Amino acid sequence: MEYTTLNNGVRMPMLGYGVFQIPAEDTKRCVSDAISVGYRSIDTAQGYYNEEGVGEAVSECGVPREELFLTTKIWISNGGYEKAKASVDESLRKLETDYVDLLLIHQPFNDYYGSYRAMEEAYKAGKARAIGVSNFMPDRFIDIAGFVEIPPMVNQLEVHVFQQQKIEKEILKKHHTQLMAWSPLAQGKNELFSNGLLTAIGEAYQKTAAQVALRFLIQSGVVVIPKSSHKDRMEENFNLFDFQLTDGEMNQLEALDLGRSQFIDHYAPEVAEMFVGAGKM
Ligand SMILES: NC(=O)c1ccc[n+]([C@@H]2O[C@H](COP(=O)([O-])OP(=O)(O)OC[C@H]3O[C@@H](n4cnc5c(N)ncnc54)[C@H](OP(=O)(O)O)[C@@H]3O)[C@@H](O)[C@H]2O)c1
Repeated sequence: MEYTTLNNGVRMPMLGYGVFQIPAEDTKRCVSDAISVGYRSIDTAQGYYNEEGVGEAVSECGVPREELFLTTKIWISNGGYEKAKASVDESLRKLETDYVDLLLIHQPFNDYYGSYRAMEEAYKAGKARAIGVSNFMPDRFIDIAGFVEIPPMVNQLEVHVFQQQKIEKEILKKHHTQLMAWSPLAQGKNELFSNGLLTAIGEAYQKTAAQVALRFLIQSGVVVIPKSSHKDRMEENFNLFDFQLTDGEMNQLEALDLGRSQFIDHYAPEVAEMFVGAGKM
């Protein structure tokens, strides 16, 4: 495993396992499988409705809690100081733990300054070892980073070979904030798993397109959290540390960047309407 050190000194694995869209009833099995494969970092969220399954797997896995790195995120409907504060305690209860390793604001909607203050309080109380944000595009990220007491340690954004977030990367570097990739395999969009360049580069190392896509991000300094419900794919996505892409290959892969989201435009009014609606539910 390779690690990054966050701006507060906390060590975070460069590779973790994401549980978005894993049904609640399958989560315990999936997370148990992932831990048995070797994953030590798990990314969940209040909005995934599967924190309990993560908690059960973590409690029963036999790996000491301090060897695991748990991330959860405050959902929009829990935005604002009081609700966010209560929701953090609820997440800890569901995750069967006294602290999370990383606590994020999931989306920059609702009263996220109030949520951030609740996260700062949780951080100071030892309920979160690190705090940060997710889906904060440059305008909102620069704003929040400029006015909070404890600078965000992480920003989790859509990052994969087709959306490399080159501008965001520079901004985050300036703020010493770690970039963490959601959908690091683009959920297979754009035929990522059979992409010609990824496949051709992988052949030399006997690696798949998925492994090259993930290795590219790790070598670019981006934390990745691929999701799979299949143990063989969990293993495939975990076996990234026995090869090294050359500078030439990294340059070739940089050219795959399309510079736009494959999923969602956070600046679109209809997207903002959708998130505001979700926050009121
Ligand atoms: N902060 C946010 O707003 C946000 C948004 C999205 C995601 N996330 C986080 O990021 C994590 C990963 O993103 P994601 O789940 O959206 O997408 P992803 O990891 O890019 O892709 C997952 C998809 O690819 C398939 N897959 C995985 N490995 C594969 C392989 N080696 N070969 C072929 N197919 C493979 C999976 O299918 P199977 O499961 O059938 O194997 C699944 O359909 C999430 O689980 C979540 O923790 C955060």
